[in-house]
Amino acid sequence: MRGLVIILVLFASVALFGCSQEESKPAAPQSSTPPAKTVEPAKIVGQAEKVVEQTQEKVAQVADQAKEQVAKVEQKAGAMVASAKAALESGEAVYSKACVSCHKLGIAGAPKTGDKDAWAPLIGSGMDTLVNNAINGKGKMPAKGGNASLTDAQVRAAVEYMTEQSK
Ligand code: HEC
Repeated sequence: MRGLVIILVLFASVALFGCSQEESKPAAPQSSTPPAKTVEPAKIVGQAEKVVEQTQEKVAQVADQAKEQVAKVEQKAGAMVASAKAALESGEAVYSKACVSCHKLGIAGAPKTGDKDAWAPLIGSGMDTLVNNAINGKGKMPAKGGNASLTDAQVRAAVEYMTEQSK
């Protein structure tokens, strides 16, 4: 009976010792490891935030540069459209619209465009004379080729085109 009591006491003390060890084990590491663990994530988060900030700055810079490029391209496109419009108002365009009907085939005795022999004496009389006659009409040549809406500058441009083709 005494031996049994001793065994029971031993069991009880082992059980208690075991329990107290189990309780103290997790408590000890918990108090020592967390500080080390929380410092590093904070650093990483800080670094990540910096990288995000830097990336955002770069994205903003690239966006600004892209905007500048787009503005430049728009300017160029605008200039091209303007010059294309100017070309439509050019001598060739006016000629094709208002003069070609008579001057291509020489209708009613009109000097043919490209006929160097016919144009040589006319060119010799001077550009201003030709332009004046084209604006005001001469013989069977109607004023402005019959297209009164043309400006003097447009008629001059057309005469310049015709003479260029006939040199
Ligand atoms: C209806 C036909 C007709 C049309 C359209 C016409 N011409 Fe003429 N053009 C003539 C005839 C005909 C002459 C020759 C006139 C003459 O010498 O008697 C002539 C002559 C000219 C001359 C030579 C003038 C000179 O000093 O002898 C010029 C420059 C000219 N045309 C420019 C033009 C231009 C520019 C246009 C278009 C805006 C045009 N013509 C449209 C019939 C036409």
